Amino acid sequence: MDLAWERSATKWRHRIFGVVVMAILIILMVIFHGEASKEWMTYQKTYNEKLASRLNKPEFRNTPVRINQIWLPQLNTTDRCTTCHVGLENPLFANEPQPFTTHPGDFLKTHPVDKFGCTVCHQGDGQAVTVEATHGAVHHLNRQLLTKEFVQASCVKCHVDLYDLSITTDHFPWGSTFLEGRRLSFQYGCRGCHKINGEGGSIGPELSGFGSRTELAFLLIHDLGHIEGPHMMAQWEYEHFLNPQKVVPGDPKLNLAPTIMPNFGFKPDQARALTIYMLGLRNPKVDAIPYEYIAQKKIAQASSSQPGSLK
Ligand code: HEC
Ligand code: HEC
Ligand code: HEC
Ligand code: HEC
Repeated sequence: MDLAWERSATKWRHRIFGVVVMAILIILMVIFHGEASKEWMTYQKTYNEKLASRLNKPEFRNTPVRINQIWLPQLNTTDRCTTCHVGLENPLFANEPQPFTTHPGDFLKTHPVDKFGCTVCHQGDGQAVTVEATHGAVHHLNRQLLTKEFVQASCVKCHVDLYDLSITTDHFPWGSTFLEGRRLSFQYGCRGCHKINGEGGSIGPELSGFGSRTELAFLLIHDLGHIEGPHMMAQWEYEHFLNPQKVVPGDPKLNLAPTIMPNFGFKPDQARALTIYMLGLRNPKVDAIPYEYIAQKKIAQASSSQPGSLK
């Protein structure tokens, strides 16, 4: 009798405990979700306000806000960037601040948003809807957002002939920093020690496919103790080009000598170009771009068939 009562009381206690825990979790989720959604909602409302006053159409103020999402199973991406970057395809927003600015260049015309999305070029966390979760150094992210010239490290995924030495900045000005890095890699004889796409020595590690590595794979085998900037792959490479011995000083206690990679005395923009070139050494097996996304027109062909269009 006593035992049965005891058992049912315990069962009830467990049930009540379970319900309370669930309730707390739900409350926390609501609060968290509320905070996170405020940010993008504010951007969209601001955009609608601006659009309404630009076009003198007050009804645009009432456009309902929503999460915009580009789901591309073939690229394995789900991009919500346009939830905040709402004005990308609107030429009226060319002089507005981020996140409203019109996208630079013709990139969204040559790579339609509904087919390409954003992260195939920019990487980052496509599903994030806060600035913090994808911009700047995000420590848990395996593919950090690529901004400014760093985006050039992605073009090679599909424009594979960028590895072709006959292609220069004249043919593909949008890849000028990547191509400068490639040029420096020949000028400074990196292939004396490193194998790159089948060519080079084996004194240093092979660099083919370097840019397709995940941050995690990189961080596991690199010492970040001597890096001044944020602890990220690109930053490590950049500082390593500026001064290899500072980043890989060895350890006298363990009888480890400093790295034998020479300090070439690179200027910051040279180190940046080399970093972008390194990040642009892709591994097609990892990137897994479907065939229909690979640019069919060869770059040199494109520029000769459409004179002037590549300026
Ligand atoms: C929550 C809103 C929001 C989302 C979601 C968002 N952004 Fe942004 N983005 C911003 C804001 C605000 C800025 C300007 C401030 C900054 O740079 O941190 C910005 C800046 C940028 C810049 C310029 C940075 C620079 O240094 O030049 C790029 C590129 C960019 N975003 C790309 C993306 C991509 C790609 C995604 C999706 C993976 C994305 N953004 C998702 C709000 C957002
Ligand atoms: C074909 C590749 C490609 C795609 C796809 C792409 N971008 Fe870009 N994006 C670029 C390039 C290249 C730049 C210019 C980088 C530079 O400043 O040199 C850029 C610049 C930007 C900037 C910075 C603008 C500025 O002037 O500060 C933002 C923000 C941005 N992209 C957001 C997006 C978003 C959001 C998407 C998805 C809708 C997207 N991009 C899709 C290649 C791409
Ligand atoms: C996911 C694959 C993919 C990525 C990544 C990509 N492109 Fe493209 N790009 C294409 C395809 C496909 C075309 C259509 C023309 C073709 O098939 O050759 C194209 C067309 C272009 C064109 C127009 C050329 C012409 O002849 O009309 C330019 C310029 C261009 N891309 C630049 C870039 C730049 C710069 C980057 C990197 C920031 C980039 N692309 C990244 C797939 C890609
Ligand atoms: C004398 C041989 C030598 C030359 C020349 C040389 N390196 Fe290195 N490099 C090394 C060695 C050894 C390492 C491994 C130790 C270290 O990280 O410094 C290395 C490391 C690297 C790494 C880091 C690899 C990783 O897994 O993170 C990169 C990237 C790199 N080198 C690029 C270059 C480039 C680009 C050039 C030409 C500008 C160059 N190296 C010239 C010997 C060399």
